[in-house]
Amino acid sequence: MKLPTDLKVTINSAMTLDGKISSYTGNSCISSKKDLVRVHKLRSKVDAIVVGINTVIIDNPMLTVRFIRSNRIDPTRIIIDSYGRIPLDSKILKTAATIKTIIVVTKQASKDTIEKIKKLGAHVIIIGSKLINLKKLFNMLYKMGYRKILIEGGGELNWSCLHGGIVNELIITIAPIVLGGRNAITLVEGKGYPIISQGIKLRLTKITQNKNDNEITLYYNS
Ligand SMILES: NC(=O)c1ccc[n+]([C@@H]2O[C@H](COP(=O)([O-])OP(=O)(O)OC[C@H]3O[C@@H](n4cnc5c(N)ncnc54)[C@H](OP(=O)(O)O)[C@@H]3O)[C@@H](O)[C@H]2O)c1
Repeated sequence: MKLPTDLKVTINSAMTLDGKISSYTGNSCISSKKDLVRVHKLRSKVDAIVVGINTVIIDNPMLTVRFIRSNRIDPTRIIIDSYGRIPLDSKILKTAATIKTIIVVTKQASKDTIEKIKKLGAHVIIIGSKLINLKKLFNMLYKMGYRKILIEGGGELNWSCLHGGIVNELIITIAPIVLGGRNAITLVEGKGYPIISQGIKLRLTKITQNKNDNEITLYYNS
């Protein structure tokens, strides 16, 4: 199954020098305020933001456009959540009645859970029986009118999207921090490739430097 050529999918992430996107305790405020403004500008230009369920459980994010002025309505928030584990008191569900939110589950999610999620104002899409089939989902989103989609992690979702060939662009801000921690999540988790030659190859298109905060942002195309 191919994705339409005019669907643009970007992964954006902030990472430490040693490749971590969060500490082993789940702390993920890695990049500077300036970088945060860049991310919110990017959010203001997309139709939807997609994150994995662990990111919602650990970070409890809002996934809205803040820190900049924007006349556009907030992008749709899309959560990849096979079992419907999203906490009913998460910021996302608490604001689902006013900001468009889609929780994508599989047949593993109970009817009761789905009803509770819908009652809070979120839409629910059911795809597949085990892991969520992302290609199917992104084709469905395209048919619904979504053209620019931003993926904001975490590591497992990044792996599935990169491995599945769904991603056109990867933007990474590298902060001058070393975190270590064998259980700290890295930019890309998943099973991985057994040998270097099988790894996904990307093309570097732009580098920006934030001298004040000793950060660089790297832009790659697939
Ligand atoms: N620094 C940054 O820029 C940044 C950004 C985002 C997140 N983070 C950090 O990343 C960490 C979470 O990352 P994570 O890797 O643990 O989890 P994640 O990518 O947020 O979520 C992964 C989960 O999504 C569900 N899922 C369903 N279908 C999937 C599919 N096809 N592919 C992948 N996942 C699928 C699975 O749970 P079910 O089977 O239960 O559905 C899976 O375990 C948090 O600590 C967060 O702070 C950092």
